[in-house]
Amino acid sequence: MAVEAEAKRVAAEFELTDDGVRNTVAEFVAEMKAGLAKDGTSMSQIPTYVTGVPNGTEKGLYLAVDLGGTNFRVCSIQLNGDTTFNLVQSKVAIPRELMVAQTAKELFAFLAKQIETFLRQHHNDHFEKHLRRRATVSTPEGYRDEHVFRLGFTFSFPVKQVGINRGNLIRWTKGFNIPDAVGKDVCQLLQTEIDLLKLPVKVAALVNDTVGTLMARSYTSPGKTSTLLGAIFGTGTNGAYVEQLSKITKPMIGDYDKTTGEMVVNTEWGSFDNALKVLPNTEYDAKLDRDSVNPGIQMFEKRISGMFLGEILRIALVALMNKPDVPLFRDDNSSHNDYHSTTTIDETSPLHTQWAVDSSILSIAEADKSVGLRALRQQIEKNLGVSAASIEDAAAVKEIAHAIAVRAARLSGAAVAAIVIHTGRLNPEASSVPQPKSTAAIKEDILKGNLAEAASATANKLADTAGLSVNEEEIVDVGVDGSLVEFYPGFEDYMREAMRAVPEIGAAGERRIRIGIAKDGSGVGAALIALVAAKMEQNNDYAGDLMQRLESVGETSENVIEDEK
Ligand code: BGC
Repeated sequence: MAVEAEAKRVAAEFELTDDGVRNTVAEFVAEMKAGLAKDGTSMSQIPTYVTGVPNGTEKGLYLAVDLGGTNFRVCSIQLNGDTTFNLVQSKVAIPRELMVAQTAKELFAFLAKQIETFLRQHHNDHFEKHLRRRATVSTPEGYRDEHVFRLGFTFSFPVKQVGINRGNLIRWTKGFNIPDAVGKDVCQLLQTEIDLLKLPVKVAALVNDTVGTLMARSYTSPGKTSTLLGAIFGTGTNGAYVEQLSKITKPMIGDYDKTTGEMVVNTEWGSFDNALKVLPNTEYDAKLDRDSVNPGIQMFEKRISGMFLGEILRIALVALMNKPDVPLFRDDNSSHNDYHSTTTIDETSPLHTQWAVDSSILSIAEADKSVGLRALRQQIEKNLGVSAASIEDAAAVKEIAHAIAVRAARLSGAAVAAIVIHTGRLNPEASSVPQPKSTAAIKEDILKGNLAEAASATANKLADTAGLSVNEEEIVDVGVDGSLVEFYPGFEDYMREAMRAVPEIGAAGERRIRIGIAKDGSGVGAALIALVAAKMEQNNDYAGDLMQRLESVGETSENVIEDEK
């Protein structure tokens, strides 16, 4: 009983009330505005120099690489121009020692080597041809820049972008820490290593994974609605959305196309409310932060993402285990336990080691609805190193894990709500979208004999459940990716519950927000941005050629314009 009561007490500490959600949203909108006006704010609101989203007709073969979590991915993407694509990819785990290497070179040389291996494996013909052409630079049919693969570099850390393929690292997150790289242009770091290996690859675009997700979702999403937001709820968390250029009032130095009137902004919302004005802060959050490599930073991310949720759970469980009067994992009499064995905590249990508890246990705990919690107890043995845990122990883990994840999902919902509100995508007509009748009300109609009314209400409800009752034009489309949204049962439902609690969104607005998984979005997205960048290059080359031709006949661009008047 003591374990159950204590678990409930701890779970309650993670509760984020509807008021809490509303305060979070209000502060979020304020921090978004602050970040658009100047540099150095909590949420960076980084202009990405990407000024349009794709519509599904884009075509071509591009390379993309993705660095941002536990793995490094290299892929080639054939965009078919009909909202579909074919993707070939390889993935390697990033050696732990490279995440905290002495020099940036060590990491980037490793990345370039992976690109070489990929090219040799999947595009060997092109690669060999390139090597032969290199020897023929001087002949007209020989080596040309256009034979080089354009590569989109998804680099999922905060970067101050100064052009579509230039950007300086602001800080590392998610356990990476190579101080030598901070302040450097990460595209240049990669290009240097690629060139040393003489690979036919040009780093054409620098992309945050959220921007890639936004692009990929826009390329593949059904219907005419263009996507507003790309968000990641995985190892880390962040969002990128389409902003009006006129609202980005801080200075931007690089060149960009102004004709669309829009630009994608990478919010870097992981650092929302670092000052903890509104974010919940339990003793477990405070300990996690104190013992992290970046105390006081990424405070939103530390309450939401997969890198941290397992650790919050570990800290909360250890706090309970340390209480002499709480018998968690202490079934010392085998007859109390349905395994008929004594509960033991391994000496090497991940419970004793910082960061050792994998967040996947939260999903498993949530998914296990069985009476005996067998699956979860197996996981407790495997993932927490506790053998023969009792049902009561497992129930306590489940209760606390649930509370941690629901808080994460509600905070995630608050972020999405804030972006939707700030961009004004829900207009006042939102409230005119008819609400489906409740099941109870329909049943009442049936009992009263109002069958026609009941039949039409049932049809509405079915359409609503199938997501069919909102007009395409009224949809606000959001692309998401990451292990939490993909694998945590009901993560999106909890996000939606939080969104409904925000008056500017409400139930009617929430139904208009369509959330779709953009699986592997960052790879496809990076390819799409590499395509845009390649087009920009061609335009610049064309403009450059024109200028040269004009100069060769002795006229400047100004007097050409004069002549045309
Ligand atoms: C990084 C973001 C990234 C997010 C999701 C965060 O830690 O700062 O740039 O988008 O993780 O991968």
